[in-house]
Amino acid sequence: MSRKSTKESVEIHTRRMYDEFGSEYQKRRDEKDITKIYNEFLEVPCMIKAVGNVKGKKLLDVGCGAGVHAKAYVKKGAKVQGIDISNTMIMLARERCKGVDFKVGSMNKLPYASSSFDIVTASLVTDYIKDLKKAFLEVNRVLKKGGLLYTSDNHPIACAREFYENDYLKIRALGYVMDKKTGKRINLGRNWLEGIDEFEMVPGMMLKTYKRTFHTYLKAIRDAGFELIDYIDCKPIPEFKKYDPDAYELFCKIPIFGIAVCRKK
Ligand SMILES: C[S@@+](CC[C@H](N)C(=O)[O-])C[C@H]1O[C@@H](n2cnc3c(N)ncnc32)[C@H](O)[C@@H]1O
Repeated sequence: MSRKSTKESVEIHTRRMYDEFGSEYQKRRDEKDITKIYNEFLEVPCMIKAVGNVKGKKLLDVGCGAGVHAKAYVKKGAKVQGIDISNTMIMLARERCKGVDFKVGSMNKLPYASSSFDIVTASLVTDYIKDLKKAFLEVNRVLKKGGLLYTSDNHPIACAREFYENDYLKIRALGYVMDKKTGKRINLGRNWLEGIDEFEMVPGMMLKTYKRTFHTYLKAIRDAGFELIDYIDCKPIPEFKKYDPDAYELFCKIPIFGIAVCRKK
């Protein structure tokens, strides 16, 4: 990984990471790499089901990545456009979905006319966005009155978990564990922590995402002129079980992704 100035914004950093490692990231997703990336079993089917019947609708997919969702929306008869900050991801999207108008650009400044879409979808992009209200205001602007935004993000319950490790235990949990060896209680949780999380998506792809409380997230939706009409916890699809029974069981117990369904007022 090339070393860049520490002053680089999260937005520039994100674009650089997806430009550099986007092909490897998407390859692992397409191959259903079960060790790390679970989107195909969780967020993707859940989002496509939530969005439902889109026949004839003008739909914009923001942070469209390699066009996985866009392809499904086209198949369901929507008139789809897509935008993503990364050149690499847009190149992959164009390969996957011929004929769809994909643009390189940011959710913070959408290059579309006001009131031009019936639906905007944003799958797992908002955690890269610093000023969420500003981005949602942009989405609000390009939506028609009464138009719908489906936006997925890390689930607040999953985000509230804390890592803990000692000589004989390695856990990530929310709640407490009684340590029978020491007789002490280990309290775990980080619900009120806001800031930047860092993690490695695929080897070398060090990503930075914004962690927010559920309150901050919902406030941004409301302050941008939306009414929250539903919140969907993404359950794994049954097919996941045969790929990774352990992970399937875990994600049946705890949601890691959630979808906010919002209507432009
Ligand atoms: C986790 S991937 C999800 C891709 C796709 N939505 C999917 O679910 O398959 C996040 C995507 O958001 C894009 N992204 C990050 N920040 C963005 C921004 N400010 N505006 C537009 N896209 C952004 C990244 O380049 C990346 O393709």
